[in-house]
Amino acid sequence: MNILLLGSGGREHALAWKMAQSRKLKKLYIAPGNGGMHDLGDCIDLDVTEHEKVIDFIKLCKIDLVVIGPEAPLVAGLADALEATNIKVFGPKKAAAQLEGSKGFTKNICKEHNIPTAKYGHFDNQEEAIDYVKSQGTPIVIKADGLAAGKGVVMAETMDEAITAIKDCFDGSFGAAGAEVVIEETLYGQEASFFVLTDGEHCLPLATAQDHKRAFDGDQGPNTGGMGAYSPAPVMTDELIEQTMTTIIEPTVKALKDQGTPYKGVLYAGLMITDQGPKLIEYNARFGDPECQVLMMRLDSDIIPALEAVATGTLNKIKLDWNKNPAITVVMTAKGYPGTYQKGDHIIGVATASHPENIEIFHAGTDLIDGKTIAVGGRVLNVTTCAPTLKEAQELAYDAIKQIDWPDAVYRTDIAWRAL
Ligand code: AMP
Ligand code: GLY
Repeated sequence: MNILLLGSGGREHALAWKMAQSRKLKKLYIAPGNGGMHDLGDCIDLDVTEHEKVIDFIKLCKIDLVVIGPEAPLVAGLADALEATNIKVFGPKKAAAQLEGSKGFTKNICKEHNIPTAKYGHFDNQEEAIDYVKSQGTPIVIKADGLAAGKGVVMAETMDEAITAIKDCFDGSFGAAGAEVVIEETLYGQEASFFVLTDGEHCLPLATAQDHKRAFDGDQGPNTGGMGAYSPAPVMTDELIEQTMTTIIEPTVKALKDQGTPYKGVLYAGLMITDQGPKLIEYNARFGDPECQVLMMRLDSDIIPALEAVATGTLNKIKLDWNKNPAITVVMTAKGYPGTYQKGDHIIGVATASHPENIEIFHAGTDLIDGKTIAVGGRVLNVTTCAPTLKEAQELAYDAIKQIDWPDAVYRTDIAWRAL
């Protein structure tokens, strides 16, 4: 089959790498892709906000399946436009993608269906939001309602911080995303990510994975998109998986189906494992990045039939096999990330470092310019390995990093420490 993959991150590189191993794949197109994906398919320029142009391209190139990586095109309704012209798509339609697109939407679903989550209030004006915070006290969590590229959450320790965060939201710091705020109690416990494929009716949990969101070693410093990940995540025991499926995932999928807006794609639940069991922090309508990289590294089965089954509503026929060896990915970032970062570094030695079979270096913010790999983004490379033990996988990854000639690279030196 011919597949069009949308996105340019490490997540999409890992998906492309995995799809390219499938005998079902005839031709892969990637829009826009990055500096590491040219060997896997045709990287093309296609403005995904122009739905008609995307549809024209799909017809011209006889695309059988479209796989949407990031959340923005989903929340903008690209899957709706494609399905309306009978194009098979992996990724939820706009109404279901609201699970990521609006925190208030998700909180309402939780309330209506008794899904465990933090206690909250949802406000569209500053005065009521401030009154609520005053009635609840601190610490408290202030969230812009809409998509804010991971930056719309403030964990306020003091009343001053909480009020400033509320004012920032309504003053437009997060653009349209901050027109409404969700304010919730602080949950305590260990965080875990949980991924399931769903075709709107059937759910298939994936292997467990966990990322490290903080910029610095020891899980310190500012939040980032993710500095590394590992799979499996020992925190997600079989019992917790079962509990998460029955109390969080299945009621959500059923609620969306019953509303007439079934969710098709990968559903990513951010959880807090509290003393009272797993509670939902948030949903994302996409694979985690960099969690996807370790999942693809461990997936033994062909991924294409699973993606297609999500699109066609036949996920009950799919079983996925996972390599029992753990995987880890270490993200190499440009100096300055997650703030303003340096661009234009020339990176040498990626091909040599990724030569052994159990090491894959997935690119994210790179461009291939005159045959040279140039850093153009914040998160740049994902050094991903799989080995009989997590310790060995970790050593392999850090040995591979040493072979990459990129003096200004910044990365954490302790990825997977919690699991070790
Ligand atoms: P979110 O964008 O909602 O996932 O929030 C980003 C990060 O903020 C999460 O990964 C958690 O680390 C933290 N966070 C969000 N909500 C809460 C909460 N209610 N209690 C504790 N931590 C939270
Ligand atoms: N790794 C966190 C995310 O993809 O949102």
